[in-house]
Amino acid sequence: MKTIAEKTFSKYLNKYVNTITLSNENLTVEFCNYGAMITKLIVNKYNLDIVLGCSSIEEYTIQDKFFGSTIGRYANRIKNGEFSIDSQKYNLSINEPPNHLHGGFEGFHKKLWNYEIADNSIVFSYLSNNLEEGYPGNLSIKVKYTLTKSDLLVEYFATSDRDTIVNLTNHSYFNLNGEGVGDIKNHIFQINSDFYTEFDKESISTGNLITVENTPLNFKNATSIDEMCSNKKFMDYDNNYVLTSSNDFKVLVSSPSTNITMKLYTDYPCMQFFTASNLENFVGKTNTYSNFSAFCLEPQYAPNSINIKSFEQPILKKGDTYSHFIKYEFII
Ligand code: GAL
Repeated sequence: MKTIAEKTFSKYLNKYVNTITLSNENLTVEFCNYGAMITKLIVNKYNLDIVLGCSSIEEYTIQDKFFGSTIGRYANRIKNGEFSIDSQKYNLSINEPPNHLHGGFEGFHKKLWNYEIADNSIVFSYLSNNLEEGYPGNLSIKVKYTLTKSDLLVEYFATSDRDTIVNLTNHSYFNLNGEGVGDIKNHIFQINSDFYTEFDKESISTGNLITVENTPLNFKNATSIDEMCSNKKFMDYDNNYVLTSSNDFKVLVSSPSTNITMKLYTDYPCMQFFTASNLENFVGKTNTYSNFSAFCLEPQYAPNSINIKSFEQPILKKGDTYSHFIKYEFII
């Protein structure tokens, strides 16, 4: 295992930002303490970076695409930015009117995190103050990334001094053909899910679960996007799946061009599947991106779940420990 740490001055933040690289014989992963994010994920065998991002650290600090970032306190949307815990009502910042998205204007993706490196791990930590973006409780968060053989494990831990809500995820944009190498329509997806969460025109869950059968969301059997949309009417995926409860992988993605396969494991109940419709004309690391330049798999609690009592609740009680994981396994 090799570790390299570097710092770059961001004029925009007027602060130093650190990048830390962990590498082993199979993978080289670069992290950044701005957003506790993943900025490079290189498959050593092909010297191929398979995550999208910006061409410089300064660029990361001025964009709003959430590249590789830690998203929180609450990933995805909360209707009208409102919720109650024990009859106490809270109002969050409204950064996607009329709703709250991905933790607000200055979500965790825009914070400078502390970090410690230990062997093959890096642990980022951040203290989110009571009522930051409107959330109750001083929340102490740790995001631990561990690189082993061909796996990258992401573990989330948090504690609060008041009852609050937490829903942390990672927003990496993957392209298994390589960052900036065309689109991901030839990728084959297997998503172990029978239902998706219905959403309204503002992408807010209604509370209904809809079967994926006979819809373009049915990836129960490995299917490429090309094949799924064979009528050439490509559907933009920005959908939330309810994952099956098995301990096995929840998603398998492979590229027939590079033969790289990624398996995703997680203990979260749901996952947002997003095919990067927000990246049209974005100048990235080595190329200009477009819709379908990448896919995001964002394990999480269902969007707006705090307002839908039939959904698993994202509540962290005072004194309890929030603990969830996402594991990416690469078969090369
Ligand atoms: C995704 C979300 C999209 C969009 C994107 C960021 O997680 O599902 O709707 O908000 O983040 O632009």
